[in-house]
Amino acid sequence: MIRKAELHVHLEGTATPLLVRQMAEKNGAELDPTTFASDGEYRWSDFWDFLKCYDKAASAIRSRSDYQLVTYDYLRRASEEGCIYVETFSSPDHAASVGISYEDHLLGIADGIDQARDEFGIEGRIIVTCVRHLGPESALNVAQQVLDTPHPYVVGFGMGGDEAQFHPKDFAPAFNLVAESGLPTTNHAGEFGGPDSIRATLDYLPVSRLGHGVRSIEDNDLVAHLAKIKIPLELCPGSNVSTGLYASVSEHPFNQLKNAGCIVTLSSDDPPFFHTSIGKEYDQTAAVFGYTDEDMKNITRNSIQAAFCEDSLKEKLLKLV
Ligand code: ADE
Ligand code: ZN
Repeated sequence: MIRKAELHVHLEGTATPLLVRQMAEKNGAELDPTTFASDGEYRWSDFWDFLKCYDKAASAIRSRSDYQLVTYDYLRRASEEGCIYVETFSSPDHAASVGISYEDHLLGIADGIDQARDEFGIEGRIIVTCVRHLGPESALNVAQQVLDTPHPYVVGFGMGGDEAQFHPKDFAPAFNLVAESGLPTTNHAGEFGGPDSIRATLDYLPVSRLGHGVRSIEDNDLVAHLAKIKIPLELCPGSNVSTGLYASVSEHPFNQLKNAGCIVTLSSDDPPFFHTSIGKEYDQTAAVFGYTDEDMKNITRNSIQAAFCEDSLKEKLLKLV
């Protein structure tokens, strides 16, 4: 099996509908019935409705041990598909919305990483994220928590949420605070925003990677620039197809961006919401674009080289590929 590495996956977004229902039942948490369709899968209609569905599902996670379980369960599934490294986005704002402290949410995820490493050998790290549509003040608050509670598994800072809200420069205080402490950052840009959203991110935020960045394809000069500055793109074709950005993986610009010299990596984003997995992403991408095993290994190598973890771990992972 091809060894895989994943840089862009939202932790709450990895929880399967079954796991969410089990946690809700255990916690006596009432889930909004509109969370699920009649077949038991997540129900949402467009990107903005997906964000709401995500919040509803995430509300079932109620304790440090729930965070451990969600993390462990995802790393187990990823490992079964040949994944050796996952950098997952944590969201202290989601934890706080159900009364979980920053520390408990973080330690629960770290417990899950430790348990999965012990049982399956997979390695994990955490990128703490803020939620763009909650605004710059919430983002700064999350950034401050990252600094106040350092943890060896927290290797970066990022931002997800609705790209149409606010401007990247509004989040410069949060991103700069973290970056000045030495942690690298990434931002969702060029998913639902166009090339201008990517340019604004590069202009105002100290990012070392781009979350998606896929809509750079609409601007040839921007693609050339991204290739020149070698900023890795966290591409998630299945996610983009599922949310309606492209009609099919064959219409996804993954291959065009790769051929243009961009550093491409491959991730699943929110796998059960998008009916995908890291294994499926690798299989589909290889099949649709005719990539060889060596091509796919090079994508894994790109991800490991672009990872925010320590160099000694990267060397160990690269040997496994
Ligand atoms: N939060 C969870 N998944 C996301 C996505 N694909 N884009 C933006 N924010 C998200
Ligand atoms: Zn994402």
